[in-house]
Amino acid sequence: MYKKIGKIVLIIGALCLVFVLAIGFIKDRKNTNEVTATGNSIKTKKDNNEQENDSKEEDNSVKELRISEENLSLKIGDKYNVEVKGLLADGSLIDLTNDSKLLRHSDNEEKISIIDGEIVVLDRAEADDEVTITYVYENISATINVKVEATEELKKEEPEKEEPKEEPKEEPKEEPKQENNESKQNNNYNSNDDTVMIDEDGKQVITNQKDIHVLVNKQRNLPSDYVPDDLIQPDIKFSFTHEDPKRYLREEAAHALERLVAQAKEEGIEIVGVSGYRSYKRQETIFNYNVKKRGYEAANKVSAKPGQSEHQTGLAIDVSCAGVNYKLQEKLGELKEGKWLAENAHKFGFIIRYELGKEDITGYQYEPWHIRYLGEDLAKDVYEKGLTYEEYFEQYML
Ligand code: DAL
Ligand code: ZN
Repeated sequence: MYKKIGKIVLIIGALCLVFVLAIGFIKDRKNTNEVTATGNSIKTKKDNNEQENDSKEEDNSVKELRISEENLSLKIGDKYNVEVKGLLADGSLIDLTNDSKLLRHSDNEEKISIIDGEIVVLDRAEADDEVTITYVYENISATINVKVEATEELKKEEPEKEEPKEEPKEEPKEEPKQENNESKQNNNYNSNDDTVMIDEDGKQVITNQKDIHVLVNKQRNLPSDYVPDDLIQPDIKFSFTHEDPKRYLREEAAHALERLVAQAKEEGIEIVGVSGYRSYKRQETIFNYNVKKRGYEAANKVSAKPGQSEHQTGLAIDVSCAGVNYKLQEKLGELKEGKWLAENAHKFGFIIRYELGKEDITGYQYEPWHIRYLGEDLAKDVYEKGLTYEEYFEQYML
């Protein structure tokens, strides 16, 4: 009887043991699955993290530009460097001031320019001028307004400051004479000249606008829709850093300019580009602006009317140097850079187009900075004969 009871206990014990082991096994299996599942979910989590990280990387892109100033008031000659920061998605700010991808643009380079990243108020600016500077980083932009402080105050504060010699600010009182000169010049039409035709308004319209030798002046107008089809950027330093159509020249002139600048550099002379190609429309804006600021006659001596600017041909460029703070000043002609240009530009196919003492012939005041590409042979001949291009054209090209 005890034996029987012992057997039953043993059997029950064995069954319990089997049951416990079976439960344990099942549990283990379950745990293994969970681990796998957890592993997957970890992986999934990791993927999510990766995605999060990826999207965080995307979020590292700049969402907004923050500029240290919204409005600036500067005097002529002032230089100012604003701080530009980029706002990221997480609210942090990164400094972009010296980032090479940060572009700067002035909507009136004639007055306020960007030189080596700094806002520079040029001598051409006048009291109360307002210029907008745009900062662009990737596809984000922001603007600030710069107002020029009154010149009179400036003169009182800085009496020693030298006035730029070119571009008289006073409106000369000889407008009728100038008009007469213009009509006299307009009558200069030569019927043997097939490089122009007369339009219905009696205006001379250039027919050989693509010719490297094209003569453009106050009598001879480029078609308003003429845009050269081979404009490229010469590989030279400019007085500004942003992308702009005024960096461009026609291909042949651009390469000639590269050679000129390189040779000058060899001789210790640094020449930088300031303004090359200009569209008809841009010339119109510049001329109208000058008329508004200086009066018609003064504007007409320094700035061509739309259609009458060599800049529209893509064959002319204004250049400058550090000695005049990269500005377009007559003083350039007295500096080693200006002298070098006057003596050497023809070797590279350029002439100084508006020379001192030739204002009555060219119609423009002395511009030691404006060089015009004619090709090496013609430039050399014009230079050696000591003629303006107007005179040369009339004497040798008709
Ligand atoms: N300053 C020259 C004459 C131009 O505007 O083309
Ligand atoms: Zn020019």
